[in-house]
Amino acid sequence: VDHGVGIRPAYHFLPAKNWQNDPNGPMYHKGVYHLFYQYNPLGAMWGTGNLSWGHSVSRDLVNWVALHTALDPTAPFDANGCWSGSATVLPSGVPALLYTGIDAHKVQVQNVAFPKNPADPFLREWVKPTYNPVILHPADVPGDSFRDPSTAWIGSDGMWRIAVAAKVGGPMGIASALVYRSKELRRWKRNASPLYTSRAAIMVECPDLFPVVRPDTEEGRLDYASIAATGAVRHVLKLSVMNTTQDYYAVGRYDDTADTFTPQEDVERNMDDCRTWRRIDYGHVYASKSFFDAGKNRRVLWAWANESDSQADDIARGWSGVQTVPRKVWLDGDGKQLRQWPIEEIETLRRKQVISLLGAQVNAGGINEIVGAGAQADVEAVFEIPSLEEAESFDPIWLLDPQKLCAEKGACARGGVGPFGLLAMASSDLREYTSVFFRVFKYNQKYKVLMCTDLTRSTTRANVYKPSYGGFVDMDIEEHKRSISLRTLIDHSMVESFGGGGRTCITARVYPKHVEKSNSHMYLFNNGTGVVKVSRLEAWKLATATVNAVPRGS
Ligand code: FRU
Repeated sequence: VDHGVGIRPAYHFLPAKNWQNDPNGPMYHKGVYHLFYQYNPLGAMWGTGNLSWGHSVSRDLVNWVALHTALDPTAPFDANGCWSGSATVLPSGVPALLYTGIDAHKVQVQNVAFPKNPADPFLREWVKPTYNPVILHPADVPGDSFRDPSTAWIGSDGMWRIAVAAKVGGPMGIASALVYRSKELRRWKRNASPLYTSRAAIMVECPDLFPVVRPDTEEGRLDYASIAATGAVRHVLKLSVMNTTQDYYAVGRYDDTADTFTPQEDVERNMDDCRTWRRIDYGHVYASKSFFDAGKNRRVLWAWANESDSQADDIARGWSGVQTVPRKVWLDGDGKQLRQWPIEEIETLRRKQVISLLGAQVNAGGINEIVGAGAQADVEAVFEIPSLEEAESFDPIWLLDPQKLCAEKGACARGGVGPFGLLAMASSDLREYTSVFFRVFKYNQKYKVLMCTDLTRSTTRANVYKPSYGGFVDMDIEEHKRSISLRTLIDHSMVESFGGGGRTCITARVYPKHVEKSNSHMYLFNNGTGVVKVSRLEAWKLATATVNAVPRGS
């Protein structure tokens, strides 16, 4: 069986073939976007000992041209792999890459690379100076736990800083984001105290520290390189936690005098356990990384969505790993959470509007088809709840584990207000579908909104990971006139959803079987006891983007 039929994404980023994992060194440079990524040129599995940096360029973040790999494991300081890292556009306009090398002794060290010809608009070739490594692994850090340098930023003392993930103090050590300072990206000195430590997390990966603003108030002050000069803005610390393989973030304030990060009050009590922080995505993405897009004055985030079927399936179809759509990120008006939204350029793929509805409704127990949306679609809906009277009451124990709550109360479990939402990637007999939905509960004289993506019915295939993902949507539904929005991007095996205007994101990988022989359908459903109004519904078929198409014969 060719498990690749009908499931290869058509507008999400992936290489022409083989394995990819983390996004590396995303940047905007002289009108061109670059994305590097962890790449195994030898096959569709993670490459022990031989990872390279794949490299693609784009003018719109949607259509991509593949170039040769930018970094390959060829030097003593990266002989066993070029692992994750970041790009920094220097004030001179020349970019630098900082990355982790697995050296000839299998020890993790940090290296730097520069464009061979800075005048090349695509920066095709990269040179690794022979003075590498620029940072050796410290004595109190095991050789296998020191990696993923962040983009560098400048403090008010004019020094560069980077954050590097490390486990400090022996095998059961403390997960840390260490800070190093340098004048010129070559000689680095470690700060006495880390930017962040966690006993609970054991090891973190891919730290990202960036300033955020509310687009309505402080636009124009997002530049990463001058992070310290951004006065009133907040900062976000994002960490990828190895033992949960999830990305977490906290909003707080970064102070460049001692390179400290102080989270918002609501995070403070859980500072040590970053697994209690908000998540970048409540589905399954990992190793996210953001960059400042000077072209459009916005911050853009990428994240890796791993496969959820077996390694044998990946090898059989010859590829593995997809990036989320690039997402614009900004600080919500509440000052506590990020909002994320697909970059506007994705809308250039909207070809045919299959539906545009105002004022429709989905009756209790009803389903309405969105005809013609298929397996490559963009759907935006706003649901309005006429009455919250019927909302089920909320048990505070559920606060701890929204994913478990979604598993207990799936799309088929009749509720009060909700579940209502979408059935995507559905077969015509409804034996297969992926549901994305909301459920509203009564809690403390207020309401609590749950968002779920339930994969239990997503495929009839065996040996596929099919959880029910879930997160709460942190918004006051009464203040929002009892309305909640859902945007879902459907791309064959990707179902990427943005709930409540991008307050809660859920990315899922699905492997429906019906797509081998037939089209996919999409429906709105409501399994609550009252009517749900659809105050806005727009759906488009999306065109296929040009993503790393390889000319024949190469
Ligand atoms: C995260 C990660 C990084 C590492 C890279 C290796 O997924 O484990 O810590 O640099 O992948 O591919």
